[in-house]
Amino acid sequence: MAACKNIVIFGATGMTGLATLAQALQAGKRRGAPRCLGTDRGCTGGAEPEGGTRCRFQSCLRHSLPLGVSAGDPLSPPRTSGYQVTVLVRDPARLPPEHRPARVVVGDVLNPPDVDKAIQGQDAVIVILGTRNDLSPTTMMSEGTRNIVAAMKAHGIRKVVVCLSAFLMWDLKKVPPRLLPVTEDHIRMHQILQESGLDCVSVMPPHIADDQPLTGDYTVTVNTSGGARVISKHDLGHFFLKCLTTSEYDGQSVYLSRNYAKV
Ligand SMILES: NC(=O)c1ccc[n+]([C@@H]2O[C@H](COP(=O)([O-])OP(=O)(O)OC[C@H]3O[C@@H](n4cnc5c(N)ncnc54)[C@H](OP(=O)(O)O)[C@@H]3O)[C@@H](O)[C@H]2O)c1
Repeated sequence: MAACKNIVIFGATGMTGLATLAQALQAGKRRGAPRCLGTDRGCTGGAEPEGGTRCRFQSCLRHSLPLGVSAGDPLSPPRTSGYQVTVLVRDPARLPPEHRPARVVVGDVLNPPDVDKAIQGQDAVIVILGTRNDLSPTTMMSEGTRNIVAAMKAHGIRKVVVCLSAFLMWDLKKVPPRLLPVTEDHIRMHQILQESGLDCVSVMPPHIADDQPLTGDYTVTVNTSGGARVISKHDLGHFFLKCLTTSEYDGQSVYLSRNYAKV
């Protein structure tokens, strides 16, 4: 597949979005020394020893990452020559100062001209829209997806990676009732993307852990769920970026998981 250089992320200020954005920006800096990606925990990447465990990134002495991980792969963002990252955000103040993308479009995914502006000139799109703690009925994610698909078609962009939910792979009767309204909007998103004819990777994660590390080493299953019922937000972001380097998962529903050490 053609290399994706220019990418836009929708939902970059969310839990998984920030973890994905950090790695997308890191991919552009890969030629330098590897840096710790734990910046959301307040790491500056250059801290002095405080008696903590040394992270694999020699410039960072705060974060402990799994033993046995060697420098380079698989922790590095998937190999590219770097991304030019655009984000569409409602509030740019939610972007950490250390993770400033090349282009910030301030707008709303429900406003087609904002979406069109963000999509212009891109090679690929990552959609990580969500409703935070609001579990009430919504059409935001599906309406936003409809706008994204329309803009992609208008600009001739084919590749999209979208974050949905593992509930779409499971028996809907087993979805906890409080999570059903959001799941129903994920189903609408999925349908819009399936009918779009675009090269779409539908990522269907189980519980997304906020407190687990980037490992780059997780189980990927296609069109079925299996194994553990958790994936870290960093590993999920790692996989979104990996999908930009391969057409292997285009048109597929993909489940990710890993057994992490207890924190
Ligand atoms: N948490 C889990 O365990 C889990 C498990 C499986 C699947 N999922 C799904 O995975 C996805 C990502 O979850 P997450 O918890 O990482 O996301 P999140 O923290 O809820 O973030 C949602 C993102 O969507 C953006 N957004 C919301 N409405 C918008 C609008 N009208 N226009 C533009 N942007 C808008 C938010 O921007 P603002 O900063 O402006 O709010 C934020 O960046 C969600 O669809 C979620 O349901 C979650």
